[in-house]
Amino acid sequence: MIISFEGGEGVGKSTHSKLFCNHLQQRGLPWLSLREPGGSSFSEQLRPLFFEQGLDHLTELLLVLSSRRENITKLIEPAVAEGRIVVIDRFIDSTLVYQGVLGGIGVERTRQIMELTGTWREPDLTFVLDIDPARALKRIRPGDKFENQAIGFHEQIRKAFLELASQKRHVVIDADRKHEEVSRDILAVADSFLHV
Ligand code: TMP
Repeated sequence: MIISFEGGEGVGKSTHSKLFCNHLQQRGLPWLSLREPGGSSFSEQLRPLFFEQGLDHLTELLLVLSSRRENITKLIEPAVAEGRIVVIDRFIDSTLVYQGVLGGIGVERTRQIMELTGTWREPDLTFVLDIDPARALKRIRPGDKFENQAIGFHEQIRKAFLELASQKRHVVIDADRKHEEVSRDILAVADSFLHV
């Protein structure tokens, strides 16, 4: 089983994916967590290249997909086969939104490229953490080339995630609340999904 956490910058994906893994641990459920871009040791080495300034969007896409291919073959599929719950901080939806929509490659074309390259793997459940970017950006100190973009970019990211989230596997979570409240909602949805 694969569960992904998605959303714009500063929405709390890393915090909530960690809280979620703690919860799985407490319930005695086996899990594996990773982030993208990154994950396997090869993919972590690729991460700084992905953040280089001035890459065109197709190059970004190819980099993140090489990283994902390694993750899928070396980490994700073996863990799923062992019955572990794989928790991923950003996955295919970030690619559809950042490279597909914002990068102009197109959602459908990006999805096709993923299918053709063995990097299209749909999670079973996806949490989309949602906050008004004007508020979310106050929670972080902008560092990388995406975080440093103007507010209009972040508003488009939010809109694209919400449009994408109309699929069945997505659950949109209002993340503009205290961590405990957000986490409580996430755990309730996950527990009912996992039947625990
Ligand atoms: P983060 O690890 O701090 O969330 O940063 C990852 C950044 O990489 C974030 O701005 C979104 C971006 N990204 C893409 O553009 N495409 C992708 O496929 C993924 C996984 C991330």
